[in-house]
Amino acid sequence: MPIEVIAIASDHGGFDFKEILKVDLKNFGYEVLDLGCDNDSSVDYPNYANKMAEAIAGGNALRGVLVCGSGIGISISANRHKHIRAALVHNTLTAKLCREHNNANVLVLGGRTTSIKVAKDCLKVFLDTGFEGGRHQDRIDIIS
Ligand code: RB5
Repeated sequence: MPIEVIAIASDHGGFDFKEILKVDLKNFGYEVLDLGCDNDSSVDYPNYANKMAEAIAGGNALRGVLVCGSGIGISISANRHKHIRAALVHNTLTAKLCREHNNANVLVLGGRTTSIKVAKDCLKVFLDTGFEGGRHQDRIDIIS
């Protein structure tokens, strides 16, 4: 089976989380596509949301992870793209539900609002949980 590529991107507020979560992704057996940023110098989060949207639209990754300080700005930006369903989560229940009910293709975390332990747990649940389809697909069709 081919190795799934997971794209990951952050602004400066999420840079530390991105570096840690990259290691987890590799340890889980995924190939990581790092879209930046490259250090903790100030950058503009919409640019990284756009890079994620381009990577997924181009077929370079099926799913991705975005991190900014709160997770709010980067999720708003990502969801401007019609093919992105980015879910800002703060616990494993919402990480599970965003896959089961919303077929989220991008997990969003807040590097300044979530502990790294919770972020790591959310990542694992996001990766391991499937979409339930059925009535949930009907609702996603309405969004689309
Ligand atoms: C950057 O300072 C911060 O505004 C950003 O990371 C994010 O929290 C925006 O929503």
